[in-house]
Amino acid sequence: MYSKASAPGKVILFGEHAVVFGEPAIAAALNLRTAVLAENSASKMLNGIPLHRESNPYPYFALELTGSGPMNLTVNSDIPPGAGLGSSAALTVATVGTLRPEYGPERVATMAFEVELIAQGRASPIDTSTATHGGAVFVDRKEGASLLWTIRKGNVTWHIHHTEVPPLNLVIGFTGKGAATGPLVENVRRLHSKFETAREAVAEIGAVTIEARKRMREGDVVGIGELMDRNQRLLSMLGVSSDEIAKLIDAVRPYSYGAKLTGAGGGGSVISLTDKPEKVAEAIRKKGFIPYKCTIGGEGLRLDNGPG
Ligand code: PMV
Repeated sequence: MYSKASAPGKVILFGEHAVVFGEPAIAAALNLRTAVLAENSASKMLNGIPLHRESNPYPYFALELTGSGPMNLTVNSDIPPGAGLGSSAALTVATVGTLRPEYGPERVATMAFEVELIAQGRASPIDTSTATHGGAVFVDRKEGASLLWTIRKGNVTWHIHHTEVPPLNLVIGFTGKGAATGPLVENVRRLHSKFETAREAVAEIGAVTIEARKRMREGDVVGIGELMDRNQRLLSMLGVSSDEIAKLIDAVRPYSYGAKLTGAGGGGSVISLTDKPEKVAEAIRKKGFIPYKCTIGGEGLRLDNGPG
């Protein structure tokens, strides 16, 4: 038998890194997707070659945690890896979904988060929840209306909510430089445990996110842009920006309401909120980086089960 599933990439609009400590965050699914086909096999395979935990920890641990036998996984993705666009979460969610089509979304999101934790060290459930639910999600400390599910780890609790995001014109600029999420998250943890200023920056990112949610409800694009700039300054203080990110942001600033890194940083991608997407894309290209005009609010986990 075979089964197939796909899941979207995402952009974090507000709150990356701070969300690992339980602060609020907002993320939206993209129209870029990863599809996984699983077929019974004599040994664990990925795209025709043996699957090892060192080189491909996400599908490896997805197989382990779902208790699946050996499978041949065929992966097709249009999400650039290491770009901060949630390629590993999409892969993990699509793999768990295809291996366990009987699971509901809450169970898929929770297990995919466990896979990310093992593969990456520390993490929050924002990427895997967004890849599972699609649309947009708001992570809060409190339970509110539109609660989807709650995930706990250690002393941190994340209440994952469905949220509406107004139609936003976003352009992604990819630095072309991938950066591993695990070490960036670990470095922020170290700063947070040592320095009061880092703890204050993390808490302020949470406050900026709550404010951004209000502005989104009002459709206040100027306000959202200003808050993106503020979020970016706070992320720089946490050491997750980079020269390439700063260069990209400088290039898009004249045509943007606001711009910030998205995802783990250290390279990866920048998002610009703009009403001049062509100008922003051109400015990104001129600096030698790669623009993606993206549509947010993509569909979440989609199952496509074959004959049993
Ligand atoms: O590297 P990405 O795009 O999957 O983003 C990671 C987001 C962080 O907040 C930095 C980590 C996390 O698990 O929430």
